[in-house]
Amino acid sequence: MEGSEAIRPDKDGPVIVQEAWENLGMYTGVEKREGTYWVRTERGGAAVEFVTDDMLRIKYFLGNDPEMSTTVAIDPAAAAGGEVQAQLEETEGGVRFRTASLEVTLDKLGLSMTVRDREGNVLAEQKSITFSPDGSAFGVYDMPQDSHFYGLGEKSSFLDKRGERYTNWNTDVYAPHMPEIEALYESIPLLIHMHGGISCGLFLDNPGRSDFDMRSHGVAFTVSCTTGSYDLYFINGPELKDVVKRYTALTGRINLPPKWAIGYHQSRYSYMNQQEVLELGRTFRAKQIPCDVIYLDIHYMDEYRVFTFDPVRFPDPAGMIRELREMGIRIVPIVDPGVKKDAKYPIYQEGIREDHFCRKLEGDLFFGEVWPGTSAFPDFTDDRTAKWWADQHAFYTELGIEGIWNDMNEPAVFNESKTMDLDVMHRNNGKPLTHEELHNIYGLLMSKSTFEGLKEQLDRRRPFVLTRAGYAGIQRYAAVWTGDNRSFWEHMAMAMPMVLNMGLSGLAFAGPDIGGFAHHTSAELLIRWTQMGVFFPYCRNHSALETVRQEPWSFGEEAEAILREYIGLRYRWMPQLYNLFHEAAVTGLPVIRPLILEYPHDPNVTNLCDQFLLGDNVLIAPVYRPDTDHRAVYLPEGTWLDYWTGEAHEGGRYILAHSPLSVLPVYVKAGSIIAEGPLKQHAEDGADDAVTFHVYGADAEGDFAASYRLYEDDGVSYGYEVGAYSELELKVRAEQGRLVLSCAYPHRQYEAKRESLRFVLRRPKFRPAEVEGLGQVTLEQMEQGALGWAVDGQSGDLIIQVQDRPEGGQWAVISA
Ligand code: GLC
Repeated sequence: MEGSEAIRPDKDGPVIVQEAWENLGMYTGVEKREGTYWVRTERGGAAVEFVTDDMLRIKYFLGNDPEMSTTVAIDPAAAAGGEVQAQLEETEGGVRFRTASLEVTLDKLGLSMTVRDREGNVLAEQKSITFSPDGSAFGVYDMPQDSHFYGLGEKSSFLDKRGERYTNWNTDVYAPHMPEIEALYESIPLLIHMHGGISCGLFLDNPGRSDFDMRSHGVAFTVSCTTGSYDLYFINGPELKDVVKRYTALTGRINLPPKWAIGYHQSRYSYMNQQEVLELGRTFRAKQIPCDVIYLDIHYMDEYRVFTFDPVRFPDPAGMIRELREMGIRIVPIVDPGVKKDAKYPIYQEGIREDHFCRKLEGDLFFGEVWPGTSAFPDFTDDRTAKWWADQHAFYTELGIEGIWNDMNEPAVFNESKTMDLDVMHRNNGKPLTHEELHNIYGLLMSKSTFEGLKEQLDRRRPFVLTRAGYAGIQRYAAVWTGDNRSFWEHMAMAMPMVLNMGLSGLAFAGPDIGGFAHHTSAELLIRWTQMGVFFPYCRNHSALETVRQEPWSFGEEAEAILREYIGLRYRWMPQLYNLFHEAAVTGLPVIRPLILEYPHDPNVTNLCDQFLLGDNVLIAPVYRPDTDHRAVYLPEGTWLDYWTGEAHEGGRYILAHSPLSVLPVYVKAGSIIAEGPLKQHAEDGADDAVTFHVYGADAEGDFAASYRLYEDDGVSYGYEVGAYSELELKVRAEQGRLVLSCAYPHRQYEAKRESLRFVLRRPKFRPAEVEGLGQVTLEQMEQGALGWAVDGQSGDLIIQVQDRPEGGQWAVISA
């Protein structure tokens, strides 16, 4: 128990005397050099670059001109400053820049910044920017009454971050993730500010410690950092979606993952030996529970030495991997950064010989305790070392491995600070910086090296990397899981806002350990969590040593049947999911979305985070409390159809969903088309790309219209980069008593393996009499491949099966 010392006024060190902080002083002039405007003051200045008309970079500095290179967060593909023409004007009180969409004013005293749109609306108002003698920088921003905050990556608590305070400092938090925990494993210093119906983003590109405080200052929020430079990007909206798209244009978007990586994954700390792993794979297949990946946690290694297998537990890894691959299951082993200090261990020997490990300024190696005992840590900030590490992965890829799980890469160390000493001096490609300054990019650089190594070794097949730690831009290299949660209902609930905000922060491929990692899950919790988890972008069941087993068959037949059904559902929704992953890779919009992203002007959804959208039109409302078979569901404007029953509900209100244990409430917006595929046991199961387009709320009258674009490729290679993909465009529209369906392939350099296409009009609002040019067949005949149309007597759905022709086609349903 803590005593009063816990609230001692000076417990965090001496209170900083505000007077010791200084601003930049008076403006002295401005000069443009290449793409950069150097606005100077008595004590320093600000370097201003316009990345686009809607995005500005401002780097504040005390003293001499700083270097303008960016961190690894910035996607090299994003335009560097200089290409945008801004008009510069000096006014009495400040300097003003104008682009096609923004007006940015820097105050002559201290260069605090105000950003307006061209209509004069204030988008961001910085009240002050000050610096402390110890190198901290502190920005104060106006926080209007109606402010809401999103983003910030992987943080605890609710969706809207108003009233919260967070630190960005990658931290291994095993003790439970609670709302008061300010720092977790990932740091994404992007704050999205929504007020007055307008959204904009502030991204502080600083891989040291930064703080975002929307709690302590009443009418202001603050964005500060303790080391390094105050390198700030302003990202314009006006809609939330614009901010997400622009932020991801700057820091990059996910790579299109291999399809198997978006299947169901099974993990445990640890599957202890080869027999157990093989048995696990066989059980999945015997029980017909789909699965694409089994993870090997730390026990696969020889005394936790990375790039080894324990010779007793795993005598024949190649044979094991081969056998699993024949079942359609891939192995993803864990790789931590700590390299065991062991004079007989070749990786350690080589790392020492070639000087790859982190050192203090004085030259001493940094050693820390992790799973293998005393360990050294590669200095990924040096390209030479990153390449060395990347090359080591041939050990795995030569065994047929295509995915790697990076853990403990905050880096986590078993000591008081939980990480590497702050005075480690990273080589940083010839521009040495302390660990304190670079802490948050260590994990990203490790996963980048891993991704690049795999990519090179996999001969044009797409790799998969999973990481625990990361920084802005990590989405270009790895999927992210949310670390050591617990089998608590509260943690299931918290996974929603956490992953939703990760999605708004560029991390479109993310998810929690389903069922909970630490503590003991129950049948009910595992079922409810899996129902939710199969609609999350990343879908893995993982649990800790000494907790009750949580493989899908661990709780008897009834639970197993429900879990089988929902895991199967993920596979049936694979075409839809893959389409959304493709959209995320192209636009940066996340796979699952908070309602606020699609309905930014609906006041009911500003902090709604116990339900979410898959894409823009499927609403998932998980049950996240025990013994609960009803829940309130908010339906935004429009008509929503119950996925299971087809029942239509008018939106703009709450409804009460009946949700017994076997039912996850799912609603699809009328006017949507959803692509479903066949049930598969794994993503590459069979040569069957059959697809059924479900059309929701179709009407032959009025102005009913729906459209869809299905992206397809081989799911494994980079062929799509050179055109080997297809896009199938579908249009459905009412035309005076007829419903006209048409499809076409605007691009077809991947030939899907199917003969026909199927359309299902879910509970159409009209009674179909015939489909022009097609004969009526029975449902059984259709199952055998017959072309034609049929009405499902039970559901009232109209089903149409047509030939899948490269030239597409058009069909009209005539209403009775
Ligand atoms: C860390 C990881 C966890 C893993 C364990 C052992 O706690 O977060 O997922 O199982 O280490 O490797």
